[in-house]
Amino acid sequence: MKTEMRSDKNLLDRSGILPPGFSDEVATFSRNEASVFSLRWKVSISFSVLLFVVVGLLFLAFMRFEWIFLSREGEKRAQSLASNLAVNARDPVLAQDDLRLGPITESITLDDDVRYAYLMDHRSRVLYHSNTEKTGQVFDKGVPMPERGVIQVSAPVVVEGVQVGTAVVGLSMNHITDAMKSTAVGLILPLGIGTGLGLLGIFLLTGVHVRRVELLEKAVQALGSGNLDVRVEDRSMDEIGRLSRGFNGMVSQLLRTRKQIEKNFKETISALAEAVEAKDAYTRGHCDRVARISLALAQMVGLDIERCKELELAAILHDVGKIGVQEGVVGKLGPLSQDETRDMRCHPDIGARILSPLSSLQKVGLYIRHHHEHYDGTGYPDGLQGSAIPLPSRIILLADAFDAMMTDRPYRAALTKERAFDRIREGRGKQFDPRLVDYFFALDEDGYVDAVYGVNR
Ligand SMILES: [Fe+2]
Repeated sequence: MKTEMRSDKNLLDRSGILPPGFSDEVATFSRNEASVFSLRWKVSISFSVLLFVVVGLLFLAFMRFEWIFLSREGEKRAQSLASNLAVNARDPVLAQDDLRLGPITESITLDDDVRYAYLMDHRSRVLYHSNTEKTGQVFDKGVPMPERGVIQVSAPVVVEGVQVGTAVVGLSMNHITDAMKSTAVGLILPLGIGTGLGLLGIFLLTGVHVRRVELLEKAVQALGSGNLDVRVEDRSMDEIGRLSRGFNGMVSQLLRTRKQIEKNFKETISALAEAVEAKDAYTRGHCDRVARISLALAQMVGLDIERCKELELAAILHDVGKIGVQEGVVGKLGPLSQDETRDMRCHPDIGARILSPLSSLQKVGLYIRHHHEHYDGTGYPDGLQGSAIPLPSRIILLADAFDAMMTDRPYRAALTKERAFDRIREGRGKQFDPRLVDYFFALDEDGYVDAVYGVNR
């Protein structure tokens, strides 16, 4: 059976053993979808509102300026017309010559923007009004106020220094409002284009600056996911740049702390493994080979990274319980007595109890406890059968048994690879999980077994 080996470097590179719960995976994080609650949108919308307010105020200010300008121009024109009328009407007013007053007044109203014009004598009686119905009326309170939308200007009719009447001209403001409308319509296109470009600039510039914050946010997320291989490149001297450099410094400190923890953990595990092997000179290198074969099998079975790490620790420490076995039993030259065998069979349970105070190694302890359970239920300490035995324990059992066959023991010499394979084949479905046996032979076809034992055979 040919199986594929996954190219996961961390799995077989045992220099990177980490305590369970410590992840050396590169954290992945999803990109946050842009929403109205994101900083990018908040800043963009804020500046857009500001842009609209500024453009609106500029528009109103311009229109106000034009209104004042056109109104003053209108007043000047009305003043000019009233003055002309007053000058032209001096003699007719003095002579009360109605026939001449009419043409003089009407000549003023020929222009489109003149709403009305009239002449009054010194007793406020209307001598002639362009609206002829009002001719002859008396304005007791003087020149009446103009109606809405009219610029009204009066000029005294003076003869030899004496005011003999008043000329009044009313100028329609329709021309001014029409001009204002034309101006407003003419401003829409350039203001629209300017506002559009302004909005585009706001979104682009906001993106440039907010992106730096987003990168920092992603880095913080990655750090929160356990990825310490993350840095933020930002050399600017502003707040975000300083924050980024502070973040990088914090990550570096965390990395140093993590490496120290890893180092301490590895040294602790190595010390325990050394303690086991020191007790039995025949098992030198045994734990390391069992761990390597176990990991390769776990990879083929498809165990996840976290369980592989636990399996690796369990494989290294699987015989740690032998520390607690009576002196002289472990490594004894010759067969064990019944009592010694019973003592020796306690080592899986002792190993589990040794690790029990370590909360992060609870599963490791469980796998160690069952690493001598046989697939057919004839193993110890609990006589578990088939899938009731934790898969990592079944894996360690196979790797442990094969390594025992391949190395010299006090009571026999090492078996040949072929003989050991025969034993494994014989134990298929009895001592060993049949599926793991198949994987084991596939591992040999890949040359991995020879790679582990080539130096020692
Ligand atoms: Fe064992």
